[in-house]
Amino acid sequence: MRIVLGVSGGVAAYKAVLLLRLLREQGHRVRVVPTASALRFVGAPTWEALSGEPATDQVFEDVEHVPHVALGQGADLVVVAPATADLLARAASGRADDLLTSTLLTARCPVVMAPAMHTEMWEHAATQANVATLRARGVHVIEPASGRLTGADTGPGRLPEPEEIARVALAVAQDSGDAGGVPGVAAPRRDLAGRRVVVSAGGTREPIDPVRFIGNRSSGRQGVELARSARARGAHVTLVAANLAPDVAALVRDAGLEDVVAVETTAQLREAVRAAATSADVVVMAAAVADFRPAHAPGAKIKKVPGRGPEPITLVENPDVLAELAHDRLRADQVVVGFAAETGDADGSVLDHGRAKARRKGADLLVVNAVGEGRGFGVDANDVTVVDGSGELVATAGGTKREVADAVWDVVARVAADRADAGAVPAE
Ligand code: CTP
Repeated sequence: MRIVLGVSGGVAAYKAVLLLRLLREQGHRVRVVPTASALRFVGAPTWEALSGEPATDQVFEDVEHVPHVALGQGADLVVVAPATADLLARAASGRADDLLTSTLLTARCPVVMAPAMHTEMWEHAATQANVATLRARGVHVIEPASGRLTGADTGPGRLPEPEEIARVALAVAQDSGDAGGVPGVAAPRRDLAGRRVVVSAGGTREPIDPVRFIGNRSSGRQGVELARSARARGAHVTLVAANLAPDVAALVRDAGLEDVVAVETTAQLREAVRAAATSADVVVMAAAVADFRPAHAPGAKIKKVPGRGPEPITLVENPDVLAELAHDRLRADQVVVGFAAETGDADGSVLDHGRAKARRKGADLLVVNAVGEGRGFGVDANDVTVVDGSGELVATAGGTKREVADAVWDVVARVAADRADAGAVPAE
């Protein structure tokens, strides 16, 4: 791909050097367009040596090639990192007072901006209005990370790590390949166009008292990747999100998922999933749902009484949301997909347990997920086997959770299409 990397003037410009290297290592041609103030942080020789291309903020250099127009027109992707408050303001008001803002005005490709600034500047109404304007025009503005800023202060405003910016920017380019025509980027399949899907992600928490809960280690990443992938393939996605890990919650924002319902407990998840499922073609239960909840959760915090041991916590069983959906069939032709996190044991292998669970739950497809030994929970690698409702093997996939999400949709989209075809009333 032909990438323009815009850099505006902040200390975080040093991270753009690493971003440049990453993009180059992945085989992309990168032209760096710094602002004048960016050049005070990192000089042109660094950009030129690492990109192999000239780096200037000037519109009056190399004029015979009309760079202020040609760079934007010829780009497949523009990434601005860091984007300062000033750059966001200039871009939002359509200024063309240097090579970077001119390039932004002429670009017809996806534009991704990664803001970095002090928290007060980020939270200022002017900056937020500029971000809203840019987003409304289709610019993908990545939420800044929270953490240590340049001085002693901490808070939102930190530039995300270069790996994260590269990942989001390339995903945005890929997702728009079909709609916007990014040359050289494979268009994603649109095999879910017009379909409504519900994905649950994360892990439910059951209160013991107002401050304590029973929960699990699910980060929600696999479910969010499923939601993201479905959206890229054209689906309308409702994501029911239970207690996502902070980095996964950031991924939800960056993926531009519009219909997100945040839940905490199994009861809330059940209600949200079932409400959305009444009009859904596909429901994917990727959430780790707590099987049990405390029978009583007092409204006041449980106190430790000296000399008296802990009170036992009595648990009661939660409804099985997946089994209910499979049983109730809230909509005709709906494809109900479950997940099963399994470990092999003396009673059988991961697949044996998965097959038995598929039959027990009555879902159309069950994605059986081997957990433990560096796979599954909390890591970005997954190995899955997809079985149908009778336990027959349908597909296997492995790789990052994003790759697994795409592979799962390959199967689910096919089943959904077959079902819709079978249910269609033949023409007279
Ligand atoms: N699930 C659900 N409601 C529950 C428990 C689980 O909807 N109360 C769903 C999960 O979202 C997942 C699938 O069921 O899609 C399998 O969950 P898992 O915890 O592996 O199954 P369990 O029925 O809890 O079986 P196990 O005894 O192995 O824990």
